[in-house]
Amino acid sequence: MDTRIEEIKGVLKKYNQEHLLNHYDKLDETNKKILLDELENIDYELINSLYNNTKKEDKHGQDEITPIDYLDKYKLNDKYKYYENIGKKAIKEGKLAAVTMAGGQGTRLGHNGPKGTYDIGLNSHKSLFELLCDSLKEEGKKYNTTIPWFIMTSKENNKATVEFFEKNKYFGYQKDKNLFFFIQGELPMIDTEGKILVDENGLIKLAADGHGGIYESLVKSKMTEKMKQLGIEWVFIGGVDNCLVKMVDPVLMGVAIDKKVTVACKSVVKANPHEKVGVFCKRNGKPNVIEYSEITDEMAEATDENGELLYGESHILCNLFSVDAVERMGANPLPYHVAYKKAKYMDKNGDIVVPDSPNAYKFEAFLFDAFGEVDEMAVLRVKREEEFAPVKNSDTAGTDCPKTARELYEKYYNLS
Ligand code: UTP
Repeated sequence: MDTRIEEIKGVLKKYNQEHLLNHYDKLDETNKKILLDELENIDYELINSLYNNTKKEDKHGQDEITPIDYLDKYKLNDKYKYYENIGKKAIKEGKLAAVTMAGGQGTRLGHNGPKGTYDIGLNSHKSLFELLCDSLKEEGKKYNTTIPWFIMTSKENNKATVEFFEKNKYFGYQKDKNLFFFIQGELPMIDTEGKILVDENGLIKLAADGHGGIYESLVKSKMTEKMKQLGIEWVFIGGVDNCLVKMVDPVLMGVAIDKKVTVACKSVVKANPHEKVGVFCKRNGKPNVIEYSEITDEMAEATDENGELLYGESHILCNLFSVDAVERMGANPLPYHVAYKKAKYMDKNGDIVVPDSPNAYKFEAFLFDAFGEVDEMAVLRVKREEEFAPVKNSDTAGTDCPKTARELYEKYYNLS
């Protein structure tokens, strides 16, 4: 043990992170072991470079941004049935699975528990997880199959998520047969001096590595291997916080299969040119999403000859991938984006600090940064009122909140 600690101390000294062992002696045996494992697993070079990046200007400025082609699902005319039939056949053959990303912290919503357990206030009081499951079961029935469901959690919320499902008898799904949980990766949080934070329990302060962590964690947790064993070729990957998400869409699948692309994404048209959403584009010739903060007013307002916004297709985290594409994307690290957040931590005296303003950097990969792995992808515009009811904020915000999502859900399902 001593040599192990000595080796770790050497590494910490090299990277100026010696404070991480300050409270080691006060930990119980279990946590001592966890801390040493954590310290051995940190990629200190990566942390250094992420810290250095926090001081650099965003280098996206030099990228060449151009519009991307899209199809409107409701202007496909006779092609609609054609694509639909291709997709239906593949779904009936059991080639589609759904993946729900439920590892986020849901800080804006402020719910005490995993976001998927949130009740948006419908008369049924169903949780977001149950609403998603209802729609999967409904779709499965149409094709005389059960759509396998994979749920990504974080270390922070995994236990609570799995317990919630257990308590609800997995909503009729069968764990490890057609329902699988896997945990996404994490990265340490650091302070403004580049020091890794110590959590209130004396361990490393870790945070989920963003929805872009989906590819790597699907591969590392051997879920892609499992998918292949089950004969799955396509996965729809969506968020847990869109209660109208349509995870089973034969038209989207048909488009992907027919056009021989390995990624097909749904978009909804921007509510107005300056709506704060990321939109599909090509970046240096490859598919990508441009954030609202990156887009100039001129680009945001530009229209084509039909009066349609050139950058009007919002990314709504509704994306279909071939399993092979997921594996390819999981093999290459994605860039990390930095967020400056409030993070509770233990200071060098062992006192717990609860900051009232941001004090720490959190690093997150974005799912769409992997889109550039493919040369072409399909973008299918769908109707906002049918497919997009996000639950991001608390009701006080007035938008993308439980109230607005509930209204959209009730309207779509004729419940009001
Ligand atoms: P958001 O980016 O809206 O984040 O996630 P969030 O965690 O839900 O909410 P805030 O920003 O803290 O308020 C969009 C989707 O991606 C998932 C979320 O669970 C949600 O379904 N996600 C996000 C993850 O699974 N892991 C992450 O690390 C981040």
